[in-house]
Amino acid sequence: MTSVFASGIAALDRYLSTDFTAVPGMSSRFAATICGHLLRRQTELGIRGDIAEIGTFEGRFFIAMALALAPGEHAYGFDLFSWPDDGVLDRFLGHAARSGLTSDRFTPRPFDTGKLSTAEFGGLTGGQPLRFLHIDGEHSPEALGHDLTLAHANLHPQGLICLDDMLHPGYPFLVVAVHDYLRRHQDMRLMCVIDREDIVAAPKFLICRADAVALYETDLMQRFAAQHFVLGGDAMGHHCVVLTPEPRLAEV
Ligand SMILES: C[S@@+](CC[C@H](N)C(=O)[O-])C[C@H]1O[C@@H](n2cnc3c(N)ncnc32)[C@H](O)[C@@H]1O
Repeated sequence: MTSVFASGIAALDRYLSTDFTAVPGMSSRFAATICGHLLRRQTELGIRGDIAEIGTFEGRFFIAMALALAPGEHAYGFDLFSWPDDGVLDRFLGHAARSGLTSDRFTPRPFDTGKLSTAEFGGLTGGQPLRFLHIDGEHSPEALGHDLTLAHANLHPQGLICLDDMLHPGYPFLVVAVHDYLRRHQDMRLMCVIDREDIVAAPKFLICRADAVALYETDLMQRFAAQHFVLGGDAMGHHCVVLTPEPRLAEV
């Protein structure tokens, strides 16, 4: 098992080592590498489907995930595309083109996801179960709760929901919405915590069905052994994988 820190997808690893940080955004290269690897793992396991992101902004994380897709799969990027100005969509399209993501492989969706029903969201994402959803839109617990409802209703049975800015000091109670969600959906698990790089590249949570955890957790611990915090995480009565850029234990 190699310990090289890379996704293993040539187009994605090229983007991560060149354009990723030149695209304005708030996701870490650390998290994008691990999530790219997970998309590769899904492809190898025969888990097929499109992907979606809520909160695409200028496309930093979106481009990474779209470059990890298999032929014929599509990426949908939801955003208001009005913050901080109306040029954000054009800049997103420019970054995608420069990064080699062709326009036939993705669709920007200029919608307020807070106003979408689960059926409307499903219709806007191809009408089939999604294998990966990244939620990084409005950062209130109420809005995250709604975005989680959209994601849950449209998730592939073996798919992953990825949540950004968990445990971010600027959003200390955002995680409450995740706790509520997991209590309401006892069949879902916090499978992995991807730790922060810094204050603008905060941790992400990865959630999947309990019966899909085994598809991912051992593989993650082996593939990213050098980033594995061996104590793991206490995840509401379950144990989750924790990956961090520089794992170490406190001295006692
Ligand atoms: C933190 S930024 C996303 C960063 C991006 N995912 C990245 O990795 O670089 C949050 C984005 O969510 C969008 N947003 C906020 N509320 C939204 C809503 N109700 N519906 C859709 N997008 C929303 C904002 O316009 C903003 O571009």
